Amino acid sequence: MKRRHFLAGTAALALPMPTLATPAPRILRAAPGTASLGGDFPGTAVWAYGGSIPGPVLRVGQGDRLRVRFKNDLPQPSSVHWHGIRIDNTMDGVSGLTQDPVKPGEDFDYDFVVPDAGTYWYHPHNRSWEQMARGLSGALIVEETEPPEVDRDLVLVVDDWRLGEDGQIGEESFGSMQDWSHGGRRGNWPTVNGTYRPVMAVKRHERLRLRIINTCNATLMPLGLTGMEGKIVAFDGQPLAALQDIPARFVLGPGQRVDIIADVIDEATLDFLQGDAEPYPFVSFPVDGEAREIPLGEVQILPRNPLAEDLSMETAVRAKLALLGGAMGGNITARIGGHPMTAMMGHGKSRKVSAEPLSMRELVDEGFVWSMGGFAGMTADPYVDVKRGETVVITMPNETAWPHAMHIHGHHFRLIEDSKGPVSDAPWRDTILIEPRETAKIAFVADNPGDWMIHCHMLEHQVAGMGTWFRVS
Ligand code: C2O
Ligand code: CU
Repeated sequence: MKRRHFLAGTAALALPMPTLATPAPRILRAAPGTASLGGDFPGTAVWAYGGSIPGPVLRVGQGDRLRVRFKNDLPQPSSVHWHGIRIDNTMDGVSGLTQDPVKPGEDFDYDFVVPDAGTYWYHPHNRSWEQMARGLSGALIVEETEPPEVDRDLVLVVDDWRLGEDGQIGEESFGSMQDWSHGGRRGNWPTVNGTYRPVMAVKRHERLRLRIINTCNATLMPLGLTGMEGKIVAFDGQPLAALQDIPARFVLGPGQRVDIIADVIDEATLDFLQGDAEPYPFVSFPVDGEAREIPLGEVQILPRNPLAEDLSMETAVRAKLALLGGAMGGNITARIGGHPMTAMMGHGKSRKVSAEPLSMRELVDEGFVWSMGGFAGMTADPYVDVKRGETVVITMPNETAWPHAMHIHGHHFRLIEDSKGPVSDAPWRDTILIEPRETAKIAFVADNPGDWMIHCHMLEHQVAGMGTWFRVS
C-alpha cells in the first residue's frame, strides 16, 4: 500500500505516529541582522530567520515529522505560523490563540506531522504587519513521496519592501492609518528570494518546478511567465485535479502560492504586470546550454493529498462574514470583539469590549477601520463553533472598496459560489482573493479540532479589524 493511501485512511493525521523516528530539532532563530536586498543599497537592517532573507527553505517529506526549535532573539515577542499546513492546533503558532507569544530570549519547540505535500510557508503570527515587513518569512516545502519528474525545483519567494532613500526600512510608517485603511503597506522595492531582479541561468528544455509564494504584507502580484511552456499543477499547496494552462496574467494575493511545472523554451522571465504598464521582469532566466534535445513529455497531475473533500451541504453549518469598512467604504459601525489577543496584535492601545456598536470615529480611536461579521477584531468567543467533521459554509460579501485575501487556518476550502452563481470544482485553497463588491461562498469539512483564525492576509487589514476565529470541537 502506498503511503498516501495509508495516510488517507488515518483519522488522526496531525498526531505524531509512534512508528516515526524522532528527528533532531532544526534550529530556527529569529534575530535582527543586515541583508543586502540588491541594487546599490548598502546593507538594510532587517529581522531575519536563520540570518537570511528570506529564511531558510525548510524541506520535509510528506507524512514526516518536522521539529523546529524556534529561538526568539528579536526585541519583540513572536511565534511561528506554518501557513497552509493542516496541523495539530497547538502547533499553529498564533500568539494569543494557540500559544503564548514567545518572549525575547525564549524558545518554543514546534513538533508536528505534515499531512499534505506542496508549497507552504512560515511567518510570525504576532504583530505580523511589522515583523513580516521587517523580513521574517520563509518557504516550507513538503515533498511528495513520488515527486514529479523535474530537473530543478525552484522556490521563488516574492516580497516587497518599503525602503527609504538610504535603503533602510521605513519605520515611521509602521502603524500608519493611511496604510491600514487603504490597500495596506505596499513596498517600493520588490525582491525575489531576497534580491532585486535576480538572474537565474537555465538550460533550454530544462524542466522546472516553480513554487511562487507571495509573502508581501499586502501587495497583489499580477504575474506573467514568458519563455516557458507548462501547466499550473497546484494552488496553495493543493494539487489541481485537472491541470490548468498558465494564463498570460495570473494574480497571487498575499499568502497565496502557485506551483508551475514548465519547460524552458527560450530566454525566460517572470514578469510583474501592473495595469497597462510595460511588463517589469522580476526574475530573468537567461539560457545557458541545453538540458536535452527535445522537451520532456506532458506534465502529469500531482498525487492528491489526504484532504476531506466530501462536503455535506444539507447539514452544513452556515455563517456569514460581511467585510466592511476601510477608505471609501462609508461610515460603518461595529462592535469590538474584545479577544485578549487583539491588543497583542495592535499598537498598544487598550482595546475595550463594546456591547453596543461603535461609530467609525470611535473605532478609529481604537485603531480599527474594518469589520467582519459586525465585529472589529477577534471576538471573545468563537465566531462559529462546529463539531469535528461538520461541513462549514461561509459567505463573505466584500462590501468594501478594496480586495481582500481571506485566509483560513488549519483547513483548505473551496469556492462553491461567487457573485455570478454556483462554481463547481474550484481548486482547494487556504487563501482566496475577493474583489470589491464581490461575494465568495466557500465550504470545507471542519475535520481539524482546535481554535483557528480566519482573517485577511493583508496584514494591515487584519490588525485593523479584519480577523476572527472559529472552533472545531
Ligand atoms: Cu499566513 Cu494567519 O496567516
Ligand atoms: Cu483585506
